[in-house]
Formats: sequence, structure tokens, C-alpha cells
Amino acid sequence: MKPLPKLTKVLALAVTAGSLLFWGAFPAWAAGEHAPAKSLAELLERNDSKRCQECHSEIYEQWSRSHHARSLMGLNGFSFMSKYLRKGPLAVKKPQDATMDNFPCAKCHLPQLVGTEPQVARELAEVIWRDDKAVVSRLNIGCLVCHQDKAVVHHRPEPGVLYGPKTLTEHEGTVKVVRKSSFMASPAFCGQCHGMGPNFEFTPPVQCATLYGSYLHAYVADGGSRTCLDCHMSGRDHTFPPDFSDQKATAQLYRAALPMEVEVLPYTFHPGHKQDSPRVVVGLTIENRAGHRIPDG
Ligand code: HEC
Ligand code: HEC
Ligand code: HEC
Ligand code: HEC
Ligand code: HEC
Repeated sequence: MKPLPKLTKVLALAVTAGSLLFWGAFPAWAAGEHAPAKSLAELLERNDSKRCQECHSEIYEQWSRSHHARSLMGLNGFSFMSKYLRKGPLAVKKPQDATMDNFPCAKCHLPQLVGTEPQVARELAEVIWRDDKAVVSRLNIGCLVCHQDKAVVHHRPEPGVLYGPKTLTEHEGTVKVVRKSSFMASPAFCGQCHGMGPNFEFTPPVQCATLYGSYLHAYVADGGSRTCLDCHMSGRDHTFPPDFSDQKATAQLYRAALPMEVEVLPYTFHPGHKQDSPRVVVGLTIENRAGHRIPDG
């Protein structure tokens, strides 16, 4: 092949660099996307799962009992960010000082916060500071986080489209189109939040859930073939147990997940004349039937 003349080469390079710059700077509005939420009220309004309740009442009820529906809260309505904002590397002197850098936890606990206006981080810090549980409990992993934001990975979610198990050209809700996302059924979909290890993109790096790493490296690598949905979403149930506030049900699940077998061999050892020494050998086997280490996080 004849080598390209020098000028053409330079031009080709300039075009590539130009298009990279263009795509890098491609504004959200040009793709028809929503502008970033400007206030906490707007963020709440956009992500309100109540919009889906009327027609998907059973799924809504299941979801509302799940940990996903209270993702900024630990047990008994404890708002865990209030601790982190007051003490440690993510702490601020007063809530008005907070920026997105104080909320690396939002990557998985409140992904809709990422990319909003800086004002929203300040408002969120104020709400957490005064322990306004009514608002904190509405900040969660709702229907749209999974069925829009996190539902596709090879491009941005298209505006005005929901994603689900199959394509529907007409959908009765305010969002008129449902498109098939095979990605949603894959373990990587859950893995976006259920963690691989330390999140080094933050300063300082944070680590919380690492269960998806364990699923890949200990379960799949060992020949395990079931997906997260097979074990956790049978019949497309949105309750996602375990629910740690229901201790009885949780204990039952973990007894089934970690069957234990004990073998005991009692014997008497005679080290010398007239000397008896009772001994016991205990063999304990705990099997892990989950597709990953437990507990995690
Ligand atoms: C006015 C009623 C109505 C509202 C509101 C509504 N939906 Fe639906 N949705 C339906 C109906 C009916 C179907 C089933 C259509 C079918 O299977 O042919 C459906 C189907 C779906 C599907 C696809 C199911 C599949 O089997 O592929 C998803 C996902 C979905 N809805 C999500 C949502 C979400 C998220 C919201 C809230 C933003 C919502 N819907 C609001 C009526 C509604
Ligand atoms: C990579 C995603 C990810 C990041 C980043 C993350 N978490 Fe988590 N976190 C999870 C997941 C998923 C769970 C639940 C599942 C588990 O523990 O395996 C969880 C569980 C928790 C729990 C237990 C909740 C309960 O109901 O008791 C607390 C508390 C928590 N995270 C706090 C934080 C804080 C604080 C930060 C930021 C410093 C943070 N997490 C960052 C994904 C993450
Ligand atoms: C943590 C992520 C997550 C959340 C939150 C979530 N969903 Fe889903 N949803 C899924 C997954 C995963 C599937 C199954 C996808 C598949 O099988 O391909 C699903 C399936 C569905 C379906 C299809 C059910 C069927 O039987 O065909 C509907 C409808 C739906 N979700 C509505 C909702 C509504 C309404 C909400 C909020 C109340 C919601 N989802 C919240 C992940 C989520
Ligand atoms: C947007 C991030 C996100 C996605 C996507 C997601 N989860 Fe979660 N999940 C979380 C967080 C955060 C928690 C813990 C919330 C809390 O209690 O504070 C959680 C809690 C859970 C729990 C309850 C047990 C516990 O440790 O709290 C189960 C089970 C679970 N998720 C399974 C799944 C499965 C299966 C999928 C995929 C279908 C999935 N999740 C998708 C973020 C996510
Ligand atoms: C072979 C079945 C199986 C597979 C595959 C599986 N899990 Fe689990 N998982 C379990 C069992 C069993 C438990 C124990 C509690 C229960 O029974 O719900 C559990 C517990 C959990 C918990 C609570 C962890 C804790 O700290 O106690 C989370 C979160 C979770 N799974 C998420 C996932 C996600 C995300 C995937 C996919 C990456 C996945 N699981 C794959 C069976 C499975």
C-alpha cells in the first residue's frame, strides 16, 4: 500500500482528535437528556417510585419492603451518613461545606445523586445533618435507578425509555416505551453496586460491598452457573431478602444457606499406668450454599 501523504496523515489525526473533543464535550441536552437536577426536591420528584405504584402495586409493595427502598438507612431507620459527615475523612464542619466529594457512597447507595448540581449535595447534607428521616427515607434505589440509569452499559439510557425483560412499543405509564435489556438479567447488572473491592477512583478510596468479586472469583471460577436473579429474584420478586430487620426470617435463611454437620468422637487416652485422660475429637463442616461469601459488606 502506498503510504499516506504527510498532510493527509496530519489531517486524519486532527479529525480524530476533533471528534474525541466533540464527543467528550457533548452536552447532555443535545442527546435529549434531562438537565442535571438542580435541587433535592427535583431529584426526589424525578425518582419517586410512587409514579409506578398505581399499576405495579404488587412489585411496588415488594420493593418497599426491600433494603433497596431504604438505601441510605441501616437497621431501625439509622441514617448512617450522619455519622460519616460528622467524623472521619468524609466529615464537614457544617453541612453547607459539603460537596459531591463527601458522598462517594452515593455511587451505589444513591446513584441518581451523581451528576447533579453541587447545590444538591449541600441540601442533602443539611437533610442528613438535621436527621430528617421523612426525606432520607425517600432517597433510595427506586424503580428508575434500576429500570433506567443502571439498565444499560454500552450507551447512556435513552431519554423517555424504560428498560425491562422485553420490548413494549406501548406502555401505559408516563414513560411510553419499554425496551428489552438483556443486561438487566446478568450478574454484572447487580455487580455495578454489589462491589468488586476498593473503589480507587475516590480520594480517599472507599470500600463497602465486595460480594460481586466473590461471586466471580470464588463461585463462577469454581463452576457455579446460577445468576443473582436465579437465587434472589425467583418469580421476579422485588423483595430481595434477606431483610435484616426481620431477625427470625433472616436466621432461617442463613440456617438453610449454611448447613452445618458435626461429628464427635469421644475417647479416653491412657498416657500411663492409672492415668486416664478423656478426650474428644470434633469434626465440623459448614457448607456455603450461597453464590459468594457471606456475610459481606
Ligand atoms: C398506567 C399504568 C402504568 C404505570 C403508571 C406504569 N406502568 Fe409499567 N406497565 C404497565 C402495564 C399494563 C404493563 C404490562 C404490559 C404488557 O405486559 O403487555 C407494564 C409493563 C412494564 C414493564 C415491562 C414488563 C415486561 O414484562 O417486560 C416494566 C419494566 C415497567 N412496566 C416498569 C414501570 C415503571 C418503572 C413505572 C414507573 C416509572 C411504570 N412501569 C409505570 C402499566 C403501567
Ligand atoms: C461499590 C458500591 C458501594 C459503595 C461505594 C458503598 N457501598 Fe455501602 N453497601 C453497598 C451494598 C451493595 C450494600 C449491601 C450489600 C452488602 O453489604 O453486601 C451496602 C451496605 C452498607 C451498609 C449496611 C446497610 C444496612 O442495612 O445495615 C452500610 C451502613 C453502608 N453500606 C455504608 C456505606 C458508606 C458509609 C459508604 C461510603 C463511605 C458506602 N457504604 C459505600 C454498596 C456500596
Ligand atoms: C435493584 C434493581 C431493581 C429495582 C429497584 C426495581 N426493579 Fe423491577 N426488575 C429488576 C430486574 C433485574 C428485573 C428482571 C429483569 C429480567 O428478568 O430480565 C425486573 C423486572 C421488573 C418487571 C417485569 C416483571 C415481569 O414479571 O415481567 C417489572 C414490571 C418491574 N421490574 C417493575 C419495577 C417497579 C415498578 C419498580 C419500583 C417499585 C422496580 N421494578 C424496581 C430490577 C429492579
Ligand atoms: C444501584 C445499586 C444497586 C443495584 C443495581 C443492586 N443493588 Fe442490591 N443493594 C444495594 C444497596 C446499596 C443495598 C443496601 C442498602 C441498605 O440497606 O442500606 C442493597 C441491598 C441488597 C440486598 C439485601 C441484603 C443487604 O445486604 O442489604 C440484596 C439481597 C440485594 N441488594 C441483591 C441485589 C441483586 C440480586 C441485584 C441485581 C438484580 C441488586 N441487588 C442490584 C445496591 C444495589
Ligand atoms: C447459588 C445461589 C446464589 C447466587 C448465585 C447468589 N446468591 Fe446472594 N445469597 C444466596 C444465599 C443463600 C444468601 C443467604 C441469605 C438468603 O438466603 O437470602 C445470599 C445472601 C446475599 C446477600 C446478603 C449478604 C450478607 O451480607 O449477608 C446479598 C447482598 C446477595 N446475596 C447478593 C447477591 C448478588 C448481587 C449476587 C450476584 C452477583 C448473588 N447474591 C448471587 C444465594 C445466592
